[in-house]
Amino acid sequence: MTKGRIFSGMQPSGRFHLGNYLGALENWVKLQNEYECFFSIVDLHALTSAFENTSKIPENIHNMALDWLSAGLDPEKNVIFVQSKVKEHAELHLLLSMMTPLSWLERVPTYKDKLQQLGEQGKDINTYGFLGYPELMTADIILYKAEYVPVGEDQIPHLELSREIVRRFNNLYQPVFPEPQAQLSKSSLLPGIDGRKMSKSYGNEIPFAASPEELRERVRLIVTDPNRIKKTDVGNPDVCVAYKFHKIFNKENVNEICKCCKQAEIGCVECKKRLAEKMVDVMTDMHTRRAEYEANPARVKEILAYGAERARKVAAKTMEEVREAMHL
Ligand code: AMP
Ligand code: TRP
Repeated sequence: MTKGRIFSGMQPSGRFHLGNYLGALENWVKLQNEYECFFSIVDLHALTSAFENTSKIPENIHNMALDWLSAGLDPEKNVIFVQSKVKEHAELHLLLSMMTPLSWLERVPTYKDKLQQLGEQGKDINTYGFLGYPELMTADIILYKAEYVPVGEDQIPHLELSREIVRRFNNLYQPVFPEPQAQLSKSSLLPGIDGRKMSKSYGNEIPFAASPEELRERVRLIVTDPNRIKKTDVGNPDVCVAYKFHKIFNKENVNEICKCCKQAEIGCVECKKRLAEKMVDVMTDMHTRRAEYEANPARVKEILAYGAERARKVAAKTMEEVREAMHL
């Protein structure tokens, strides 16, 4: 018996980084043993803000599948699939759009924020599809009658809207859907090598797929205590980004590192070398798994096709109930 059903998704929008891993995937890998999980690469969502140039989508999907599989998501335990391969997502999105007041969509805080943010960058995404982003997300979740949705804090307003839409559907027609709930990941934000939140848009990320050499090079660039100029200066770990990484990746030696820094027993170069070796070590299994899948792209395709087939079965059944409830 599992504890219930989970749905979560991620946009295939470029390189997956260590922040994405710690903030989401690491948690998903734990959840796969307790819940019945549906994990989707949401390519239709990627279109809501990147509809002009779609040529990179296939490559991004393949890379995201590699990232997920190498992180340890098991394609037998979970249903892993590409959203656009299950057409019921689009159908349910359309039907939900008929009953969702515009004002509900317009008041979602991420809507105006992102519209403005991208507008400032000269990008116009004032489209019907972008406004409907959380509508599509609702369709994703409830198509599988998922009860729990593991996401970051930024997605909470979307989940609130999902529950409102579900209540409206269930009241208007038949009680088809459970109300989904957000399940917040406990890990905090991982900083990037410059100390700001790790993010593709800042260019401060450490790619999850980085080779050991690339990993060492990125770790070498992590900013340390700005007041520690010479090796003989004592350091303050509390303001050091490398120390934050030690706390996450090198837990068993973190006290030693702290002491050595405060007493100037090791320099920042040595401190980061130790960190890099530890991180290479922690990532070894994932690198091995990645190399295996990379060498066998047909296997990755097969996994996604198998996932889509399993997802479709559940989705088709829900849509039958939906059509019946709506007299279609
Ligand atoms: P994004 O790439 O921003 O759409 O994020 C995808 C997932 O990764 C979401 O669940 C985020 O909460 C998580 N995430 C993104 N950046 C970080 C970070 N720097 N630290 C922790 N989690 C993150
Ligand atoms: N909006 C989510 C994000 O940016 C991605 C997503 C799409 C999603 N559909 C979903 C997450 C359904 C959870 C459930 O992270």
